[in-house]
Amino acid sequence: MYDFKIAAADKATLYADLASALEALVAGEPDPIANMANAAALIFETLPGLNWAGFYRNVGGELVLGPFQGRAACIRIPFGKGVCGAAAATLEVQRVDDVNTFPGHIACDSASNSELVVPIVREGKLIAVLDLDSPSVARFDAEDEAGCVKLGQILALAI
Ligand code: SME
Repeated sequence: MYDFKIAAADKATLYADLASALEALVAGEPDPIANMANAAALIFETLPGLNWAGFYRNVGGELVLGPFQGRAACIRIPFGKGVCGAAAATLEVQRVDDVNTFPGHIACDSASNSELVVPIVREGKLIAVLDLDSPSVARFDAEDEAGCVKLGQILALAI
């Protein structure tokens, strides 16, 4: 039904196309689970070199697994624990080149080596985090971070 053909030559265009596709995908749909599920599928299919893409939701001050693509993952993460918990506690993006050196990193999948976690905030409150994992060390650079922050801004109004 949805067939977004995103084959950009450079990262800036890739993320611009991805943001447009995400906006189209969530337009007019108020259900947060549906929008997170489609967002995870779109991101996982579009960005090369990922082994996991998905969401942890803020449920009463604890991160709880949401829609994702990839291997089954840990379900509950306390704020402050691991990379996702650090993003939740600080409301700051966590871009980690080598998760094996990150204190408290939660190894859901031993194949993961780098990670990008973007807090999704609406009216100052954490709604969820977008978590991307890669088997490659230093998979995510500043352009990936900026592109995913933009995706987070779109999702803040859709989940
Ligand atoms: N590695 C993460 C846990 C979530 S999984 O990667 C899906 C962390 O340390 O927060």
